[in-house]
Amino acid sequence: FPAGLTDLVRSHVREIPDFPAPGVLFRDITPLLADGPALGELVRGLADVYRGKVDAVAGLESRGFILAAPLAVTLGVGMLTVRKAGRLPGPVIGVDYELEYGTARMEMRPETVDPGHRVLIVDDVLATGGTAAAAVELVEQAGGQVAGLSMLLELSELGGRSKLEDRQVDSVLVY
Ligand code: PRP
Ligand code: MG
Repeated sequence: FPAGLTDLVRSHVREIPDFPAPGVLFRDITPLLADGPALGELVRGLADVYRGKVDAVAGLESRGFILAAPLAVTLGVGMLTVRKAGRLPGPVIGVDYELEYGTARMEMRPETVDPGHRVLIVDDVLATGGTAAAAVELVEQAGGQVAGLSMLLELSELGGRSKLEDRQVDSVLVY
């Protein structure tokens, strides 16, 4: 991504110690979202990188939806929703993945993916990579091609990239 985009994000992220649990440093993007010019610049900046290269944008519930929808509109493509378990009416496909404690499941309606479409997966944060890896599997099971993954923030010490080895992962800001 252009350096200007990284600086824009860095200057609008708020760091909150001990949230949501002691010892965790939370990176809060709400100041970035609340700033109209900054939000517009971010979405246009992302769109400039992917224009002509993707046929659909898949947003990951919940926070991935925030950026995926305006990015899809700006690119003139559809937005696909990858959702938490039990939210989508059928038929759906699902993928379970590991959390630090227990498991979680993401689901998708395969009918929303046109065969062979190049799908860009969008989320706010890449941490352990479990959510993103589940989304890759869903898009491919549904018959799409994963064009890449676009993350606003990447917490590199959690190693998410290693779960997405052969994928193009672009993060605007890496910690
Ligand atoms: C957060 C974040 C990413 C995911 C990253 O979502 O928005 O989607 O965790 O973690 P991972 O790389 O370890 O899978 P979360 O499920 O906390 O909730 P939200 O998006 O609904 O706020
Ligand atoms: Mg999320």
